[in-house]
Amino acid sequence: MIVRSAEFEISAVRPQQWPDDGLPEFAFLGRSNVGKSTLLNRLLNRKSLARVSAHPGKTRQINFFRINDGFRFVDLPGYGYAAVSKRERELFAKMIDRYLIEREPLVRIFQLVDIRHLPSRDDVAVHAGLLELDVPITVVATKLDKIPKSQVAKQVRQIREALQTQVEIYPISAEKRLGLDELWALLESDMDH
Ligand code: GTP
Ligand code: MG
Repeated sequence: MIVRSAEFEISAVRPQQWPDDGLPEFAFLGRSNVGKSTLLNRLLNRKSLARVSAHPGKTRQINFFRINDGFRFVDLPGYGYAAVSKRERELFAKMIDRYLIEREPLVRIFQLVDIRHLPSRDDVAVHAGLLELDVPITVVATKLDKIPKSQVAKQVRQIREALQTQVEIYPISAEKRLGLDELWALLESDMDH
């Protein structure tokens, strides 16, 4: 994919703010700090279109990015971030659920998990919920650069077992740009359909 243009469009806190022109959308979902915003920037070859932080909880709204005037990436707030208040966590969860359930142009959801660790209880619960939706799901195992190559297959297998899932798991490193071509190939095939 040649990214000719990538623009940040809106940080939405209400559904009324979601873009309404129907361009196909790909959503990035996962725990706080798993690397959603970093992946999005790397896929688009833009340094800091989506805000990245070493501190979890950076992304707090639903952020829409318009690419090549033909499709969108959607950066969702991270779940499971303990340092925000319970009320705020519930509000995030509600906002994310509503988006995932109601959003018509949604083509695929990428659920990101850290390749180094077993999925958290939140990851497992979220995954089970996603499988109930009528939208294709792909798991992306992030920070591949942080483990030795020899452990990749084992980690992926353990993630699959913990999530109890048949969906594809793509190991990637945004940092080292590993696995990004494979993700693009999937995005492109979705758009051809
Ligand atoms: P929230 O917005 O809080 O939900 O987090 P996020 O999922 O958007 O994570 P973000 O992209 O902000 O990245 C969190 C931290 O992980 C940053 O310090 C990134 O530099 C680091 N990081 C992201 N991807 C990678 C990767 O592939 N490899 C390594 N080593 N670090 C990464
Ligand atoms: Mg983020």
